[in-house]
Amino acid sequence: MKSILEGRPALSSEVEKIAEVAGYLWQNGWAERNGGNITVNVTEYADEEMKAMPAISDVKQIGVTLPALKGCYFYCKGTGKRMRDLARRPMENGSIIRILDDCASYVIIADNEVMPTSELPSHLTVHAHLIETGSPYKATVHTHPIELVAMSHNRKFLAKDVLTNILWSMIPETKAFCPLGLGVVPYELPGSNTLADATLRELEDYDVVLWEKHGVFAKGLDVMDAFDQIDVLSKSAKIYISSKCMGFEPEGMSQEQMAEMSKAFNLPK
Ligand code: 13P
Ligand code: ZN
Repeated sequence: MKSILEGRPALSSEVEKIAEVAGYLWQNGWAERNGGNITVNVTEYADEEMKAMPAISDVKQIGVTLPALKGCYFYCKGTGKRMRDLARRPMENGSIIRILDDCASYVIIADNEVMPTSELPSHLTVHAHLIETGSPYKATVHTHPIELVAMSHNRKFLAKDVLTNILWSMIPETKAFCPLGLGVVPYELPGSNTLADATLRELEDYDVVLWEKHGVFAKGLDVMDAFDQIDVLSKSAKIYISSKCMGFEPEGMSQEQMAEMSKAFNLPK
């Protein structure tokens, strides 16, 4: 059967980027087994032929009603699918879904009947909000970065902006390239609507949030942008941990040095 990517170079290039990032997640050790998920809003690539494509699945419930998503299309990693497999075969380990007119259900349209990620409530709740607020962001990524998850096991790091300040102060680039910092979402059951709601609330102020004792969730212009923000935060966490392993508390850049960065790079915080 013909792939939906055939004759659609822009959609293909979006899916290629997703596959590339999936490879990075695996190589970084952030994607054990089926860990993590990616969804990308691909509605802008939906031509008339794509809009007329028949469903290849039953109608499935999202679990939430999201009016902003009516008629939208998303690439979604499949539930239980591995990032390392998705990196090589994105259309066998993920699928493209169409949100139906009730805004509470969807069908899979291509290429295979791969059920979307169990974190769909969080991903779609965030995408709906992005559309409602006219955001240009199209991608959301959830992954399990080792050092950041480890840091979420220490309660003193979970108070507002404690981690943000530690991570920003490890290396100037982290503040420049993750300028909103790292929000914190207290532990919630994976895949739950309560996790989705808490994620949405925290993403009002941040592009990346830490799911306590689980992982991170990021939004970005595209999948590379979301990945880059997680990557710079993870780099800072590694520097922090390396310093501790060498037996000292890292000094960190001073508040003055960080304020100087904000001024020089015109940063929002
Ligand atoms: P899925 O395989 O359903 O995407 O779940 C992976 C995960 O990380 C859940 O939080
Ligand atoms: Zn997870």
